[in-house]
Amino acid sequence: MYQFTVLLAMICLYGFNIQQVTNTSGSLSIISIDTTQTPLVMYGAQIFKDKKCQRCHRLDEDGKKRLKSLDGLGGKFPDIWLYGFLQDPETFIPKTRMPSFESLFKKEIDKNRFDKILLQSSDNISAEQLDLAWQKLQLEVNEIRSNLQKDLPQGTDVLSSEGLALMAFLQKIPSSKK
Ligand code: HEC
Repeated sequence: MYQFTVLLAMICLYGFNIQQVTNTSGSLSIISIDTTQTPLVMYGAQIFKDKKCQRCHRLDEDGKKRLKSLDGLGGKFPDIWLYGFLQDPETFIPKTRMPSFESLFKKEIDKNRFDKILLQSSDNISAEQLDLAWQKLQLEVNEIRSNLQKDLPQGTDVLSSEGLALMAFLQKIPSSKK
């Protein structure tokens, strides 16, 4: 019975994700990513917006040339690279203008904030769907954490942070080249 419930939950979530994709013309439209937006990726997209990464970056090859394009970033670097780079860009690229976003990795992902992000993106989300999406987010973030932990010195604790959500989003930025 438990397994059946989980299966049903997954199916609901999947349907829910499809709906999110077709709804991205809403509040997330500045980030026009045509990929299945998982709960963690949606959270990360909001962080990208909040931190104004787009002052210096664009997501594809169009637009202002002075902005450093993140086109095709998804899968370009392993998580451990992004994890280090976002916290301390200078050690990777000396004298870079890219600022450190270390604080994001100290700030835990917040359920209230997550609910707000989902409610903004669609009018029709039940409390149950919010909870299912939250559970899925936990699974996603835990997978990233345990992968990072394999690459970090033993005993290093990785927080379920907003920084990891941002990473999940960055890892989904597609390439505009066919
Ligand atoms: C003040 C400008 C500025 C801001 C704000 C900024 N960046 Fe950057 N970023 C850069 C520059 C410049 C580079 C290129 C590195 C270099 O050559 O110095 C870069 C490089 C990167 C790279 C590596 C890309 C690659 O393919 O090598 C990633 C990833 C990145 N930034 C993500 C972000 C994210 C995410 C944010 C927001 C949380 C952000 N940046 C905010 C200036 C900025």
